[in-house]
Amino acid sequence: MEALDQLDELLSCRLDVGRKAVKPCTIVIFGASGDLTARKLIPALYHLYLEKQLPDPFRIVGFARRAKSDAAWRDELLQDWQKYSRAKDVNAANWNAFAANIFYCEGEFSDAGAYQKLRNQLAGFGHEALRRNLVCYLATSPSQFALVTEQLQKSGLLLRDEGSGFEQKLVVEKPFGRDLLSARQLNNELTRFAHEKQIYRIDHYLGKETVQNILMFRFSNSVFEQLWTRQSVDHVQITVSETLGVGGRGGYYEEAGALRDMVQNHLLQVLALIAMEPPVSLEAECIRDEKVKLLKSIREFGPAQVSSFAVRGQYAAGEIDGQKVPGYRQEAKVGADSSTETFVAARLLVDNWRWSGVPFYLRTGKRLALNSSEVRVQFRPTPNVLFAAQCGPKLDANSITLRLQPNEGISLRFNGKAPGVSMEIRPVRMQFDYEAEFGAYTPEAYQRLLLEVIAGDSTLFIRRDEVETAWSIVDPIRQAWTGQPLEAAELYPAGSWGPAAADDLLARLGHKWRMTQSGH
Ligand SMILES: NC(=O)c1ccc[n+]([C@@H]2O[C@H](COP(=O)([O-])OP(=O)(O)OC[C@H]3O[C@@H](n4cnc5c(N)ncnc54)[C@H](OP(=O)(O)O)[C@@H]3O)[C@@H](O)[C@H]2O)c1
Repeated sequence: MEALDQLDELLSCRLDVGRKAVKPCTIVIFGASGDLTARKLIPALYHLYLEKQLPDPFRIVGFARRAKSDAAWRDELLQDWQKYSRAKDVNAANWNAFAANIFYCEGEFSDAGAYQKLRNQLAGFGHEALRRNLVCYLATSPSQFALVTEQLQKSGLLLRDEGSGFEQKLVVEKPFGRDLLSARQLNNELTRFAHEKQIYRIDHYLGKETVQNILMFRFSNSVFEQLWTRQSVDHVQITVSETLGVGGRGGYYEEAGALRDMVQNHLLQVLALIAMEPPVSLEAECIRDEKVKLLKSIREFGPAQVSSFAVRGQYAAGEIDGQKVPGYRQEAKVGADSSTETFVAARLLVDNWRWSGVPFYLRTGKRLALNSSEVRVQFRPTPNVLFAAQCGPKLDANSITLRLQPNEGISLRFNGKAPGVSMEIRPVRMQFDYEAEFGAYTPEAYQRLLLEVIAGDSTLFIRRDEVETAWSIVDPIRQAWTGQPLEAAELYPAGSWGPAAADDLLARLGHKWRMTQSGH
């Protein structure tokens, strides 16, 4: 027995034991006949139901214009679920029990009468909490966010009152604005009708397990946290690359581009988590305060300096996995001379005590060589004595890679002696693989996010000042590119790693892009 006491136990610590209990509520989805509802929201709610995470009782009401009965909508959702879900077999008894909680409300967003109908429907559920605890999910076009919010408030469904014991929450999808000005306007409009604390701005990246793990990795491991400073870190690379093109979303993408679609939200969020200071507690506001502080310390540059700090590109025809694919300008609903960027690389500097002088490189693009999201923290080389003096640049500096997807995990690269009588040093990798350690289960981001909204925890959502600060970082880049037609050198063949200028951006400081997933 004593011998067993000496063994290294894997103690786990549940942090969510103090989490707020989920209270009975109704989730009202505005824009319920849309793609997001069918592909993400309903499957996520169904999985939460199967895992007994939803409150008891709960209801789901879909609001959209098309006429359909509750039964017809339930059937549609079941068919969509079978089309999109990873688990193809639906257990009929489970689905029917879940679907009995789903209702449909036909209505037009601008019609006050439709909200009265919704009120009556909620009242018909016969439980005060199902009528007054509401999660209003705006799965609508962003131009309709303010309209629906105003109508909700006017119809008495959305109240700012505190202390009643009931809560109404608004969940707002991305994109949140097109620039700082429009994001501010939208914030002003929403906060006319709702408190900031009732608004949950979604960035689905924050629902990913591996993104959440960044904070745990950093602040529960003294070994790494001590190295997380300019004294040890040479530079950081954040890559989110996709092999997919824009597919059927050409119309949306023409308006957005990679800067708005990826950098302003997902990449800056990952950067904030990687670089922020430790929060004073795990309370949502403390974590969000630190993220905002970090974003505010990113050095501003004016449009004239953009070419030194940022690179854009657009995919031309090329090959992905041996298949020929068209260029962006040949995609449906894309202009034949479009200058919309499908690739962005940028070098950002964080002007604070911890990170002064450490470049943070961000890169994202469509039709790149790999589907991969990872953060690589590249450490400084050893002093130029002993092994380094003999090996020169062949002695690789250490690095840690946080792989966000696929093959979620963490790898540490360091040098070791190759076995044998000769003296040979080469890099070796220590790998932590999520699937190997915990099994294949990774819940969908929306599952986690919906549960957090229902529980009233806003840690994983973007606060007003956060979204506005992020826009103020990317706006000068946008301004510098607007009206400037793309040059030939900015086109990159599909299946490559983007335009050559993205490599030059790093080469200027003696750096180069490195990825672990492809093994180079
Ligand atoms: N799809 C995704 O995977 C995804 C991912 C990230 C973010 N988003 C964001 O999520 C939001 C919704 O996306 P989505 O793809 O689901 O959109 P969508 O397919 O266009 O669906 C929106 C739905 O809203 C309903 N609607 C539109 N105008 C209405 C009106 N005036 N009154 C009542 N209902 C109206 C429509 O249904 P009826 O025709 O029946 O009225 C439509 O099906 C957007 O902001 C999008 O940017 C989507």
